[in-house]
Parts: sequence; structure tokens; C-alpha cells
Amino acid sequence: MEEEFRLYGDDFDQDAIRQWFWEEAEYHNQFQQGRFREPPQLYQRFDWYWVLNPYFHPRTGAKVLDFGCAEGQALIGLPAERRDFAYVGVDASESLLKAARARNPRGEFRRMPDDGRIPAADEEFDYVVVLGVLHHVPNVRHYLEEFHRILRPGGRLILREPNHAMGRPVGSHRILPGLSPNERGIPTEYLTQQLTRLQMRIVAVRPAFHGLVVKLLRRWKPDSPRGWQAVIGVDRILNGLTRGRARYERTRLWDKIAPTASYVVADKGP
Ligand SMILES: C[S@@+](CC[C@H](N)C(=O)[O-])C[C@H]1O[C@@H](n2cnc3c(N)ncnc32)[C@H](O)[C@@H]1O
Repeated sequence: MEEEFRLYGDDFDQDAIRQWFWEEAEYHNQFQQGRFREPPQLYQRFDWYWVLNPYFHPRTGAKVLDFGCAEGQALIGLPAERRDFAYVGVDASESLLKAARARNPRGEFRRMPDDGRIPAADEEFDYVVVLGVLHHVPNVRHYLEEFHRILRPGGRLILREPNHAMGRPVGSHRILPGLSPNERGIPTEYLTQQLTRLQMRIVAVRPAFHGLVVKLLRRWKPDSPRGWQAVIGVDRILNGLTRGRARYERTRLWDKIAPTASYVVADKGP
């Protein structure tokens, strides 16, 4: 348990939390602008097929939070008939929020403060969608509690996070090329345990081979639904073949042949 605390920052004091928060916000201010500008990115296609199409069905007028929204691209790219909801984006990076506001004049955008309290009222949202964000935050358990606080009873949380150490083993703060100063994956079991502790009902857990498949797809870009069904089919088969052998730290080549991300869908109780 102590190791878990160290890994996910749940034992950090306020100074450590603030320092981590600003390092990540600054990294995204400086290096991530424009990166999200060309939808659909390959991983957004995965999001659609793995989790949004099956599990994201807001009714007309529902309120949806896109937490860690970057330039607001993840949900804005949905088909028009699936976009009839009130969109709120929250992010720590002021420059990404500025780009998001310019791109999505109908959306509402709020800046995340460094005290970890999400700028939202209790039970404000029908859906909270968090795609690739928790692995950048300093104290994961606290953020999960916040998502629970701001979901209405019966509301749905949708997560996608890398599920391995990303080359940064427990306790290491090694600077790694291409990674932000602190990011590290989060084991899927940790997420499901914490959500269960909050008495949320786990609706789905879907590991995905993002990394490997996205690399292969850089050459072959399927742009038809059929092509994508084939990709997801291959991902499913790979998941079946490697079931149960995904480690958090992956040093041997053999360990690297495993899903790199997981989707988790959980509902708040009534
Ligand atoms: C990898 S990007 C994911 C963007 C988007 N959700 C997507 O799927 O394309 C991570 C985002 O999390 C934001 N972020 C990092 N730390 C955060 C925090 N503590 N609170 C809110 N957003 C944060 C970053 O600024 C960045 O926009």
C-alpha cells in the first residue's frame, strides 16, 4: 500500500502537489500547443470505438465535463447527432484553454486551480470524461474523489489512462525524452479499487494496445468504419492472447507485448 501512495502521489503534501501541478501545466503550455489541432488523431479513433460509441450517450441538454480537455478536441469531434449536450472543458494549461476557447465558442472553459478542487458544483455533471489526464496529476485518489463529488447520482465517469510505468519506475523522477516531467501510468486495478471504494459501479474495463497498434497505423491509415472495426478486432485478439500478463514496469521485451492503456467506465450510485 505504501508503494501505491508513493506512485500515485496520494501521500504528497501541499507543496509537493503544487510543484507537480505547475510543472505539468507549464510543460503543456510550452510543448503541447498545436499538437491536438488535427483531429481525428489515431487515439481519438480508439476512444470512439472502444468507449465513446458504446458508453457515451448523453441525453439532449445533459451536462458533460471534459476534464483535461487540452484544445477541446476529444468530444467536439463527435458526430453532430451525438453532440447535443452542454460542454464544459477544464484544463490546467492556460494556453491550451485559450486555443480551446477560440476553437469551440459554444463550449464553456474553466481553469483548474492548483489546490486540486475542480471548479464545479457538487453533482453538476451527467458525464465526466477524462482521457489521458490522470497520469499527469499529482494525487490521483483525490481527483477520483472530486469526479465522484461533481457527478450527479447515476452519472457516468469515463477514463482512459496508460497502464504501465512509461519507463519511469516507482520513485524515479528521471527526465525522459518525449514525456512531461512527472507523467507515469496508473495500473487499471488501482483505478477500479479506488472507484469501488467510492461505491461506484464498474461498468466496463477495456485494455487496449494503443501504443503498438498506433505505431503500425502510422503507415496504414484506415479511414472507413470497416477498416476501424478490423483494427479493434485485432486489438481484441491481442488482448485475449496477453490476458493477465500485463506488468506495471516493463523492462523485458516480452513484458512490452501487452496493452498500453485501459478504458474504465464507472457509474455513481443513485
Ligand atoms: C495528454 S493530454 C490529453 C488531452 C485530451 N484529454 C485528449 O484526450 O486529447 C493531458 C491534458 O491534461 C492537462 N492537465 C495536466 N495536469 C492537469 C491537472 N492537474 N488538472 C487538469 N488538467 C491537467 C494538460 O494540460 C493536457 O491538456
